[in-house]
Amino acid sequence: MTGVVTVTLNPALDLTVHAAGWQRGQVNAGQGMHLAAGGKGVNVASILADLRAGQGEGVTATGLLGDENPERFETLLRDKGIRDAFLRVPGPTRVGVKLVDPAAQETTDINLPGLTATPQDLAALDARLDELSADHGAFVLAGSLPPGVDADVYVRWVERLRAAGRFVAVDTSGAALSAVLAAPVLPNLIKPNEHELAAALGRDLPTEDALLAAAHDLLGRGADVVAVSRGEQGALLVSRAATVRARPPRVPVVSTVGAGDAMVAGLVSAHLDGLSLPDAARRATGFSVGTITRLGAHLPPRAELDTLTAQVEVTLLSENKEFQHG
Ligand SMILES: Nc1ncnc2c1ncn2[C@@H]1O[C@H](COP(=O)(O)OP(=O)(O)OP(=O)(O)O)[C@@H](O)[C@H]1O
Ligand SMILES: [Mg+2]
Repeated sequence: MTGVVTVTLNPALDLTVHAAGWQRGQVNAGQGMHLAAGGKGVNVASILADLRAGQGEGVTATGLLGDENPERFETLLRDKGIRDAFLRVPGPTRVGVKLVDPAAQETTDINLPGLTATPQDLAALDARLDELSADHGAFVLAGSLPPGVDADVYVRWVERLRAAGRFVAVDTSGAALSAVLAAPVLPNLIKPNEHELAAALGRDLPTEDALLAAAHDLLGRGADVVAVSRGEQGALLVSRAATVRARPPRVPVVSTVGAGDAMVAGLVSAHLDGLSLPDAARRATGFSVGTITRLGAHLPPRAELDTLTAQVEVTLLSENKEFQHG
């Protein structure tokens, strides 16, 4: 059972407008715009589909999508061959407007409210996840929660999916992450960045040792892999078999949007391919670095991806022989 399902409860349409020298309260000329379908689960699906192009393995995206503006999402999913299992709910998916003034090197953000999930929406999504769990092996629960959703929604789904024997990855922040980390059943894979992890645990994690101790604590409580990403410093990854540090090569950054999502996609695909932790760390970091060299959540062409991946510096900090071949 190899199919992957990504779940995005709170997708977003990102509208970027370039308007050099724009002024408040005036009529301004713009030079261009870019409209992209986003949200963490959508980004993870997009990157997995890039990896698997032509290999025939299924990527399915579900979650809640507003019925007023679904076109950009539908196009992305269709273009990438991702199965669209989103529920349509009345109203608009939230829109984030980025007003870029390249001359002043300034960006102004306006984040519009989107959907509020109803109990009926969530019940329908529960049913859809149950259906999908019949024939998909891995689930990625990613991103923030829209209004109307309790902070423990991921806790519930992690328990249900793991009880059914499915592999579950979670990438979220704030109260939703705190709830996941405090729950009796942890996801198989967790990928917070260092700030999200510290905030969710309610304590400072100022050093590599502190981050590793926190990650090991989560392993002890049932996670299989914990990856703590640290922006341009790379990531720390722990499993029962090994502890690894991955450092990305220096690259020209076009957009850091999707860096973390690319890491999640890399780690999930590494799990499905049975890679060791050092190899998973290399692949996932290669994906992240590849993604930040372009706009949006897309992998670069294969040759470029392979070159970047080969440049990732992976250090084995410790290993546990007992678990190496488990
Ligand atoms: N400026 C950068 N230069 C090189 N690599 C980077 C840079 N920023 C991020 N990365 C790579 O991307 C990975 C994930 O980045 P980061 O820790 O910023 O994730 P994140 O905060 O979860 O991002 P997201 O906004 O997508 O959720 C890092 O481990 C690193 O390998
Ligand atoms: Mg992230």
